[in-house]
Amino acid sequence: MRTLTGIQPSGTLHIGNYFGAMRPAIEAQARGECFYFIADYHSMTALTDAQQRREFTLGIALDWLACGLDPAKAVFWRQSDIPEVCELTWMIGSLTPMGLLERAHSYKDKTAKGISPNFGLFAYPVLMAADILMFNAHRVPVGRDQVQHIEMARDIATRFNHLYGQGRELFVLPQAQVDEAVATLPGLDGRKMSKSYDNTLPLFEGGARQLRETVARIVTDSRLPGEPKNTEGSALVMIHDAVATVEQRAAFHADLQAGLGWGEAKARTTAVLEAHLAPMRERYEALVARPDELEDILLQGARKARALATPFLQSLREAVGLGRLAGSGSVAAPKAAPTAPDKLPSFKQYRETDGRFYFKLAAHDGAVLLQSQGFESGRDAGQWVKRIRTEGMAAAQAAPVGLGPGVAWPQVQAALQVLQTHDAQTAAAAAQA
Ligand code: TRP
Repeated sequence: MRTLTGIQPSGTLHIGNYFGAMRPAIEAQARGECFYFIADYHSMTALTDAQQRREFTLGIALDWLACGLDPAKAVFWRQSDIPEVCELTWMIGSLTPMGLLERAHSYKDKTAKGISPNFGLFAYPVLMAADILMFNAHRVPVGRDQVQHIEMARDIATRFNHLYGQGRELFVLPQAQVDEAVATLPGLDGRKMSKSYDNTLPLFEGGARQLRETVARIVTDSRLPGEPKNTEGSALVMIHDAVATVEQRAAFHADLQAGLGWGEAKARTTAVLEAHLAPMRERYEALVARPDELEDILLQGARKARALATPFLQSLREAVGLGRLAGSGSVAAPKAAPTAPDKLPSFKQYRETDGRFYFKLAAHDGAVLLQSQGFESGRDAGQWVKRIRTEGMAAAQAAPVGLGPGVAWPQVQAALQVLQTHDAQTAAAAAQA
């Protein structure tokens, strides 16, 4: 299961962003493969100041790393470090109907506001689809405003698979994941926390002091200390509860109902926020002091992502008939020499002493490339083997398998291509016989 999402480089973040989008994304690192990138190409549709783009990109990278994005667990890169995504945008954009893009809310909202659309703004969902499809992401956590874009990506992927897949699913169909459980935090004035309302609590800006001063500005009712407070609908209580433990929450509610003063309540809210944010702020400062290290983190992430994107795009170029003319299906293709049997990778199916059924993909020298999890039935294992063998990488990446020790996906891809070529040659020979 691969999760992927793009992060817009915009100005400083507030705690509403943190509890809304960042914390769930960071927690997801422990559960599966996470791919996160800074959508700097996308920022070009709205922002034309190069220096500001650099600052926003740097700022958002700092924010995410400080908040706990772990580059050892998640793949984290800057979109523009993988220019292949632009080529893919062209490939899929060429089969995206104008009508589909004209129906995009993001585009309609902008034009309704009198912003005269440029090509980039219009093509925004196509670039976004390329981001997602390039990495065969299964799940895309986004805000509600982006769900339509994910649906477009599915549409485009279906069309592409149908036109160029020759029965294979070249692209995985992605699914939007909108976290219903994440409540939007109220801002200082009780409305939704948002930069446009100027009612935010900043995440790092201004440090502990500004945090305390901003919490002090949260609007409460005028009940005095000693009077019971209504906790329902209070912005202060909601902000407190977003960080507090279950016990802290229960005590806070009971104390307020028993007459705790709002001033005291604000001090307690500041304390729980500070306990949560202080270690993150420390990481932030440490990263700011070492810009080279940050650049390295992004480049390493890009290297990992590109190791997937480059061979995948190559296979797509072949599928659509771009580039090299000797690709599969070309009339003039010279016949590739068959691979000797002892040089072929192979799938092995077996049963373990735990009674479950497993399979692995081994390179010709026996090295394990893919190792499956255990299945209830041999048939389930067999079906996955068949799917991976016929559909290739997309199926391999969707399958419940892990990579062998020290193995990277491009090696799996290369092995599967050898097998597919072999299978195609065997089938062709059988058809001629
Ligand atoms: N459009 C997204 C936003 O505004 C950012 C984004 C760009 C994205 N590419 C993506 C999100 C791919 C998910 C997947 O928030």
